[in-house]
Amino acid sequence: MNFQGQCAADEKLEFHASAIAGTEEVLCDELRELGLPSVRFNRGGIPFRGTWRDGWRACLQSRIAQRIHVLLARFPAPSPAVLYTGVQSVAWARHLTSKQTFSVHAVCRGSQLTHEGVTALKVKDAIVDQLRASQGLRPNVSDDPDVRIFLYLANDKASLYLDMSGEPLHKRGYRRDTGEAPLRETLAAALLRMAGWDRKTRLIDPMCGSGTIAIEAALWAANIAPGLGRERFGFERWASFGAEEAQALRDLKGELRSARAGQTPRIIAADMDAAVLVKAQINARAAGVKLAFREQSVFDLQVDDQPALIVTNPPYGVRLEADQLFARKVMATFCRLHGWRVALLAGSPAYAQEMSPRPCQRMELLNGDLPCEFLLYDIP
Ligand SMILES: C[S@@+](CC[C@H](N)C(=O)[O-])C[C@H]1O[C@@H](n2cnc3c(N)ncnc32)[C@H](O)[C@@H]1O
Repeated sequence: MNFQGQCAADEKLEFHASAIAGTEEVLCDELRELGLPSVRFNRGGIPFRGTWRDGWRACLQSRIAQRIHVLLARFPAPSPAVLYTGVQSVAWARHLTSKQTFSVHAVCRGSQLTHEGVTALKVKDAIVDQLRASQGLRPNVSDDPDVRIFLYLANDKASLYLDMSGEPLHKRGYRRDTGEAPLRETLAAALLRMAGWDRKTRLIDPMCGSGTIAIEAALWAANIAPGLGRERFGFERWASFGAEEAQALRDLKGELRSARAGQTPRIIAADMDAAVLVKAQINARAAGVKLAFREQSVFDLQVDDQPALIVTNPPYGVRLEADQLFARKVMATFCRLHGWRVALLAGSPAYAQEMSPRPCQRMELLNGDLPCEFLLYDIP
């Protein structure tokens, strides 16, 4: 078998970090700050280069990436037959044995092959045929696969990737329970960076729900790598991940644990709903961070002599009138917080409509399927 472990060679690899639409710029900044090599800005996701260890680091340390893919091959694929040949050019036994399970996901853009399901099946056939020929047995497809393969076909050119993350990276492992409409952890982390938080200023989420924004802020401020709480990543299930790799990954996690910062700013998580605050407390404990919790209405926020940054995700309803009235009261409250910065992810246009002056930053984002606006105000 052509087995080569992830530690066996100091290969130069090409990676792709995917992001929630609208968060690519902050993801690019984050990956550069993590010291990952050759990070380039790209609207559809951020490419970078490096070794296997760099790919592991991105999985462990990126707060904003949704997934990390590693490139296996690029080839033209104008037809099913050419696609099949291209997929067979990869030595699959390095990543996948016939006893393991796998899945293939395909995305087709502007290509002659348009049906993503049929295209994924062709990729699957090429892999199965190669392994059956070399090992006498074929691996099975599964919904919880050991190896996730991703094909991106654009203008008849195929890029074939392995998904290093496994479960998407927003699944940090600390969220035990949630209130209504919880934010993805990766989106919460992106909002903190988009709000320009310096990790020193006091931070408040006055409508914290299950606490995602405040917990992500505390993890970032304490320099705790978000992936340290994960049970495992996709790459740990590949054939190329053996005892040597397991030891190297333990060493890397040890290094990251010892980089934890001592001093952290005060981070306040408030909500008017006592039951949801209990969930936020349980989640914060699971994440290993300390927050100050307050059961209070956003309307009772008072300015004091310390600067603060508010990052929050207020509720949105389907009844527009109720939205408008609630937004009016929330924005009137924020207007009184002289000298503070307020960043909010608004699922309703009512928030921007109810605030003058205009926001100093306004960006469109997707929160799950819901188009949202990220609004940033420096209250004069
Ligand atoms: C969209 S959810 C926040 C979700 C949160 N970002 C998370 O990740 O779980 C909005 C929250 O606002 C809270 N809320 C609604 N009205 C409020 C008020 N007047 N004061 C404080 N919190 C309020 C709700 O209890 C709910 O938890």
